[in-house]
Amino acid sequence: MRNFELYVPTKMIFGEGEIKKLAAEVPSDKKILLLYGGGSIKKNGIYDQVVAALKDHDFIEFSGIEANPEYTTLLKALEIINKEDVGYMLAVGGGSVIDGTKFLASAALYEGDTPWDILSKRIRTFKGLPFGTVLTLPATGSEMNSGAVVSRSETNEKLVMGGPGLFPEFSICDPTVVRSIPKRQLANGLADAFTHVLEQYMTYPADAPLQDRFSESILQTLLEIAPAVMKDPNDYKAASNFMWCCTMALNGYIQKGVPTDWSVHMIAHELTAFYGIDHARTLAIILPSAYTKKFEQKKAKLAQYAERVFNLQSGTMEEKAKKAIEKTEEFYQSLGIQTRLRAYTDAYDGFSQTVAKSLTEHGLTALGEHQDITPEVAAEIVEMAY
Ligand code: NZQ
Ligand code: ZN
Repeated sequence: MRNFELYVPTKMIFGEGEIKKLAAEVPSDKKILLLYGGGSIKKNGIYDQVVAALKDHDFIEFSGIEANPEYTTLLKALEIINKEDVGYMLAVGGGSVIDGTKFLASAALYEGDTPWDILSKRIRTFKGLPFGTVLTLPATGSEMNSGAVVSRSETNEKLVMGGPGLFPEFSICDPTVVRSIPKRQLANGLADAFTHVLEQYMTYPADAPLQDRFSESILQTLLEIAPAVMKDPNDYKAASNFMWCCTMALNGYIQKGVPTDWSVHMIAHELTAFYGIDHARTLAIILPSAYTKKFEQKKAKLAQYAERVFNLQSGTMEEKAKKAIEKTEEFYQSLGIQTRLRAYTDAYDGFSQTVAKSLTEHGLTALGEHQDITPEVAAEIVEMAY
């Protein structure tokens, strides 16, 4: 196993009815900025619960953080933070609102002139403005990690940032929020979490059987609960397991001591940047091609995944590995997610070169667990996904 350090300071408060605990977690001696998205929290009662919990706090609001949070929108929130002397933030939303808040946490204390540099120059954040979250959409794991992804549609960019200063201080995860989530977003959440596990697992055997089994157990649980989540978001048993799987898929634990890939995400981000396709769907488009392209390097682990997660015991290692890629694609499709780029746009001719150029410009020229996915290889993967 590789050496590692584990630092995950976020306090998790999980379960039905726990939003009221906000009052004790949010500091009462600071001005609070409550951040949320396009308004779903006003329709499903989450906003009312949050406001009731904050009745003795001094808070102001910023709404309208869009899916794939936009840099220009976030700059407006930054202005408010500076003008109003905000000392603490509360993100109420899914990955987009939480990521947007992480960007603000970093930008509020950033001493440079252009906050976009935090993303484009990959400046890590060691200290940010403190914040907590109320999660409304299980998917990204952003509620318990220190990463964020911010988009800038004017330049077709979607870039990642992070650092130890960007963990939420606490996250409240009440699985009843799942009740109001539309089917499309439920499917996205399941697919995103499943892919997060694969990005940290589907590399090569690395003498880390505990991490392997952590990952396999999350994958198996997601496969097991997905039909129930899709059928009835009111099913608390399914919703609570869904929520905890998504958090565990990307809170740092399963990646410790092992090689990780993340090339699927890095290539897939370009599909959102240029076509606006939902994050999870871009992963479903890229992953089958990426694993086919890197088959030789991944086949041992793919076969292990076939055996342990899909219970495929017969055939050679290669046969099992191939079947594992098919099964993964079938899983995405079972959620109603299309796995070909052509299903989302007619304008895909030549797009692979655009991806190669963008990855080069952003210094993402050596992706994957072997750092051998160059922009040219990434372009081939994108073409295979047409
Ligand atoms: O904006 P509102 O009106 O709230 O509606 C949202 C939004 O339209 C809606 N929604 C959220 N909770 C709901 C709800 N609708 C009804 N009931 C509820 N309880 O769902 C829509 C999508 O929300 P969003 O936050 O965009 O979804 P998700 O959580 O999938 O986040 C996606 C973003 O996270 C990034 C992605 O790139 C993308 O920008 N990621 C962040 C990661 C991280 N920080 O670790 C890792 C991921 O790989 C991912 O890249
Ligand atoms: Zn993701």
